[in-house]
Order: sequence, then C-alpha cells, then structure tokens
Amino acid sequence: AKIKEVEFVKSSGRAKDCPRDNRPEFAILGRSNVGKSSLINALVRKNEVALTSKKPGKTQLINHFLVNKSWYIVDLPGYGFAKASEAARMDWSSFTKGYFLNRDTLVGVLLLVDASVPPQKIDLDCANWLGRNNIPLTFVFTKCDKMKVGKGKRPDENIRNFQQLIAENYPQHPPWIMTSSVTGLGRDELLLHMSQLRNY
Ligand code: GTP
Ligand code: MG
Repeated sequence: AKIKEVEFVKSSGRAKDCPRDNRPEFAILGRSNVGKSSLINALVRKNEVALTSKKPGKTQLINHFLVNKSWYIVDLPGYGFAKASEAARMDWSSFTKGYFLNRDTLVGVLLLVDASVPPQKIDLDCANWLGRNNIPLTFVFTKCDKMKVGKGKRPDENIRNFQQLIAENYPQHPPWIMTSSVTGLGRDELLLHMSQLRNY
C-alpha cells in the first residue's frame, strides 16, 4: 500500500483529454478549502505535490498524478467557492459530471467532506448525485482534529448527521474514513483501502 513515487503527468481541460493508458485511478473531489491538496500531500508525504496553484473557479483542470508508475490520483477542481459566478458553477458541474460518467478507469471517487462543520448543502447535493449515478464512492472526512469548542458540534456528530442525510440515496452506506492531514489520522487506513479497491 506504500507510496514510493509520484509524478505529475498532465492537466486536462476535458475528460476526453485524460491519459488513455487504462491504469486505475482515484478522483479526489470536494469543496474548495476542504483539504484536497493537503490530503494528497499527506498521503504522499511530500509538500506541494498537488499544489498546482489554481485560482478557484478560474482554471478548471483535471490533474493526473501517477503513483508508483501504476495508478493515478486525480486532483479535480474544488466546487462551491463563494466567489464563482453562476456560469462558472454550471461549467464546473457539466465538466466534472462528464468526467465521472465517462471515465472507465475510475476505481473510486474520494469525496472529501469537512468534519469540522455541520453538513453543507453543496456536499449533500454532490454525494446524492454520485449515489444516484452509481459512481463508486468513499467518504473521506477531513479536519477531524478540529473540535468546534462552544458550538456544540463535534466531528463525529457532524459525520453522523451527514450520513443520515444521504442515506436514502444509498442502498448501502459507502465506506468512510476519518482523516486529519495535521495528525496523520486515517492515512494508513486510506492507503490500505485504496489498494484493496485496486485489486478486487
Ligand atoms: P482548493 O485547492 O482551494 O480547492 O482547497 P483544498 O481543498 O485543496 O484545501 P487545502 O488542502 O489547500 O486546505 C485548505 C485549508 O485547510 C488550509 O489552510 C489547510 O492548512 C487546512 N487544512 C487542510 N487539511 C486540514 C486538516 O486535516 N486539519 C486542519 N486543522 N486543517 C486542515
Ligand atoms: Mg487544492
């Protein structure tokens, strides 16, 4: 399950421009600021592998990283930045939906959800859309080290509420993992999970 080597391969503007070598891949998806780049860097144990410095809502690129010369991690544009225009948001959804519905080599989507805040509508919408379209999904709850003192909400409570709110779109609840890029929580579990999905 270990990651020994990661290389950036390419950025693609459309799903059909993505690499065509049939290697299995995992897509990392989530709200802007949820911790996508931090998670990728924590998995890889390198800083700035995934930081392709995109201005949110501006460039919309699918970034392929080849791991151990055998499988891909794909960094997708974040959704839900407050400043994006309606047009940019529509673009985001047709662009990434095209990717999800047409990418045969997609082994799974890692949908990152911030566990330090209560369930957000945009994350629920995204999870429900993936569920209805039978896209294989793992929930990766991020920022589990953060305790909201005073607001009475804790990561485990936020996670439980989130799971209840999506239950009707999933006959079986997808796998889920609690993580923190700060403490390293969930890192080994997630790597193991990904290796199991690749070899099933
Ligand atoms: P975009 O690229 O804008 O879509 O954001 P992103 O999803 O890549 O988020 P990024 O990894 O840049 O992290 C956003 C902020 O959250 C940064 O300030 C990180 O330091 C912080 N952050 C990320 N992961 C964690 C975590 O596990 N715990 C805590 N406490 N903070 C985190
Ligand atoms: Mg990022």
